[in-house]
Amino acid sequence: MTNGNAWDADELVRAARLARDLRAQVGADARIFAARAPGRVNLIGEHTDYSSLPVLPVAIDRATIIVAAANMSGELFVRNADPAWPARTFRIERHIPPFETGDWANYVKAAVQGLIDHFAARGASVSQFRGGAAIVDGRVPVAAGLSSSAALTIAAALSFMALNSLTLPPLEAAQMAARSEWYVGTRAGGMDQAASLLGRRDHALFIEFDPLRVRPVKMPPEAAIVVADSLEVADKSGRVRSEYNRRVVECSLAARILGHALGFDNARILGDIVRSAGRIDAASLERTLAENSPAELATDLNDAARILGGDRETLARDLLGEGPHRIILDARPLKVPARARHVLGESERVLRAVDALEAGRLDELGLLMNASHASLATDFECSTARLDALVEAARRGGALGARLTGAGFGGSIVALCRADDAARVIAQIDRDYYAKLDRQTQHARAVLHAGPGADVIELAAA
Ligand code: GLA
Repeated sequence: MTNGNAWDADELVRAARLARDLRAQVGADARIFAARAPGRVNLIGEHTDYSSLPVLPVAIDRATIIVAAANMSGELFVRNADPAWPARTFRIERHIPPFETGDWANYVKAAVQGLIDHFAARGASVSQFRGGAAIVDGRVPVAAGLSSSAALTIAAALSFMALNSLTLPPLEAAQMAARSEWYVGTRAGGMDQAASLLGRRDHALFIEFDPLRVRPVKMPPEAAIVVADSLEVADKSGRVRSEYNRRVVECSLAARILGHALGFDNARILGDIVRSAGRIDAASLERTLAENSPAELATDLNDAARILGGDRETLARDLLGEGPHRIILDARPLKVPARARHVLGESERVLRAVDALEAGRLDELGLLMNASHASLATDFECSTARLDALVEAARRGGALGARLTGAGFGGSIVALCRADDAARVIAQIDRDYYAKLDRQTQHARAVLHAGPGADVIELAAA
């Protein structure tokens, strides 16, 4: 993970500037480390990762940088180059209590907690960890579905490891960080952290889970990735989080009901069903589920317990968790077959998309992306009118395919087009979408490139 090649010239300048600032605080002799971690845009495979089913993201050429120096205070002091995010200090302890919901520095805490858990399980004592001072400079758009949170978490994890002279192989680090969003109460899968750590320049990443595996797939040079932000804030600490966690519950119920029907009684997530069955056969699994589950189930989980022949309280505890991060469901019924239809169909689309990309069949990849969006909009119900409008605009502008990317409920779309058509796609999006908004939107859309994964280096004294 010390691959200076991951840094572009601009990032090195940013890091050097931050280091000068930090040195003023920590003194001329301190060793200063710099970590960079990119955001990601997911080409296809949406809402599949927490079922341990495959995804196809790219790490993007926008990264969060953290410079850090160790000290013996037992605390970590983090400052953000953007004054909109207030400086925070916290104690390095075995169980680090989170700041208030929505606080940016909870992602730093999530990283540190993840590492403490990881190394404690291998015999380390929390008193061995050094604290320090750090400055964060994020360039991944926030709340836009491009994983600024994973970029921050991974940059924080690499910095904290560097302060403590620890290293982990990238795959192990990705596995360790996979559940970092659980710390802030989102039951997310491991796609974002894996993409940020394992990104490869000019490559998409075919990622499979349980165990985590990554195969880089070359992006054909004639392909361009356009990302456009709806500017509808997909704030993961509020409504998006409760919608997201509700989808996690619905997908897990689908797995349990399918498992019960098929005799795979230990199935907890849809990936378990696929692994037990030996392959993804979406059509047949959808049929089995439709025969065994009504379209809607009551949130009190009585229907579900009846179908599964078990005890409602135990089921509720297993599905919703316990303690402060217990998932609270509102009274709307749970939609199990429709959610599973999306996840299983999407997983098949990912496999076809990998084949199409490897063979350079961009038209086919575009069609799969369109099908993904339709499924996310109707079966998964995580699109919005604005995301739909952006997707339409991109297609009208000549995109081969377009879809929402990330969790949805706001955030960004991703469009695939021929490199020669990228300017036309953007012009159409400007006309059809941004021209109607009364605000500065120059930075809201861009052609993004598949960039390298996260990295940490030591900066030489100035
Ligand atoms: C968010 C989560 C990811 C993934 C996507 C949806 O980005 O952090 O783990 O579930 O949503 O595909």
